[in-house]
Amino acid sequence: MRCLRKPPYWVSGVLGVAVLTALFAGRTVEADGSNLSSGATNDADALVERGRYVALASNCASCHTRRGGAPYAGGVKFETPVGTIYSSNITSSLENGIGKWTAEDLRRALHEGVAADGYRLFPAFPYTSFTQMTDEDVAALYAYMRTVAADEYRPPANDFLFKQRWAMTIWNALFFEPARFKPDPKQTPEWNRGAYLVGALGHCGACHTPRNTFMAEMPEQAYQGSSLREYVTADKVRDWAAVNLTSSADGLKTWSVDDLTKYLHTGFSLRGGAWGPMNDVVGNSTSKLTLEDARAMATYIKSLPLKIPPEGEATISPVTPEQAALGQTIYKDRCEKCHGASGRGGMFSGPPLAGNPTVQSADPDSLINAVLYGATPAEGMKLGAWETMKPYADVLSDTDIANVSNYVRGSWGNAAPPVDAARVAKQR
Ligand code: HEC
Ligand code: HEC
Ligand code: HEC
Repeated sequence: MRCLRKPPYWVSGVLGVAVLTALFAGRTVEADGSNLSSGATNDADALVERGRYVALASNCASCHTRRGGAPYAGGVKFETPVGTIYSSNITSSLENGIGKWTAEDLRRALHEGVAADGYRLFPAFPYTSFTQMTDEDVAALYAYMRTVAADEYRPPANDFLFKQRWAMTIWNALFFEPARFKPDPKQTPEWNRGAYLVGALGHCGACHTPRNTFMAEMPEQAYQGSSLREYVTADKVRDWAAVNLTSSADGLKTWSVDDLTKYLHTGFSLRGGAWGPMNDVVGNSTSKLTLEDARAMATYIKSLPLKIPPEGEATISPVTPEQAALGQTIYKDRCEKCHGASGRGGMFSGPPLAGNPTVQSADPDSLINAVLYGATPAEGMKLGAWETMKPYADVLSDTDIANVSNYVRGSWGNAAPPVDAARVAKQR
């Protein structure tokens, strides 16, 4: 469950599939099933399988399955500065789900942000990304959604502002243009597949792209890092920095395509492991995709233009050597055994903190969360030979955590602005 902070986040879950995907590559599927004659059952099954894969790549489950609820029954709560909105029941229930929706209804919701009854949807539902989905994928998704068992759960009503659906007409006019994904002929098929998976289905930008005052993603700063708020436990909302995914110094500069592929496919690479909000993304989505698709995503991400710091950001001065020195002993006592004296981590210890995007993010919230609450992967995922990181909330004071944060932010070539105790206190 997740929500928005500041203006930024508008919101802040196979082997057979590999075979089926290969089967479908380069093939057009008729949405109305008109191509089904002999062997109809197989084609229909294949369409459903393809749709299931699209749902995985789009992580529909993370947003539409509340803790303890039936799959896709909705009720996941999104908290924003202007109130609370709940995800819809998208099971095949006729009363409370989308069981009455036609294929065209679903297409319009994904491509245009308009529900079957004609009302406007809020972009907490990332139709601003899904608008790029191909018609074939939408048709397959529809076939799959029809197989999802009906559940009669009815999500709670939204807060006042999220009943003002008329307002979305204005927002859409200003910030949204429906557009299908267009492959770039100058790029390889792998790159184009990656661009499609990251931008149209995976909606990575929903968290990693900064937003303007009206909470619209700013395409000119795509994937350069943003802030969001998310539930990590059922009852606790936390602020997070969704790090810069470009290959600049405070982003994925030290990550190779192989590192990133492995991270997305297994939740672990020697550069970093999944934890925090990425546990949902990797656990429910990217780890369920084929290795080829994970690699395509990594290829695309590693090609993103470098982040050029916006005016003013350059004037934020990094941690001074004096500030960093205050945290050295704590680092030595508490962190060094896993992250290393030189911040380089190791195969049997932990991820590098030197050149690490979470450590260097101008917004320190994810770093503070790691220290306060520890870092563990999604259920069932392994971190190679690493031991997971335990929480320090009860062991270190706010000042200690600020000091050790400043040590890692100002050492080994890292150059991020300092953190103070008040910022740590805010995250408790
Ligand atoms: C980032 C979270 C998120 C993701 C990912 C997401 N949804 Fe949603 N979805 C929502 C929210 C929140 C709403 C409610 C929007 C509103 O009420 O305006 C919603 C609404 C919908 C609706 C409208 C239902 C109705 O009765 O009005 C449909 C259909 C839908 N989602 C389908 C999907 C499908 C299919 C996927 C995967 C391709 C998906 N969603 C992925 C958050 C999400
Ligand atoms: C719900 C919000 C959200 C979405 C969606 C999301 N991310 Fe993230 N991502 C985060 C946050 C927060 C962090 C920093 C903390 C952490 O690692 O969980 C992060 C960190 C990362 C990291 C750095 C990991 C590290 O150890 O330094 C990578 C790489 C990444 N995300 C890639 C992606 C890709 C690719 C997608 C799309 C498939 C994606 N993210 C979608 C929120 C998100
Ligand atoms: C027992 C070994 C261990 C100790 C001690 C430890 N860590 Fe970690 N740390 C890890 C592991 C393993 C991960 C990766 C966890 C995951 O990905 O699920 C991690 C992750 C992190 C991250 C997130 C990195 C990223 O890429 O997003 C930060 C930041 C961090 N640690 C800082 C610290 C600091 C500061 C200390 C001391 C206060 C510390 N760690 C102590 C093992 C440790």
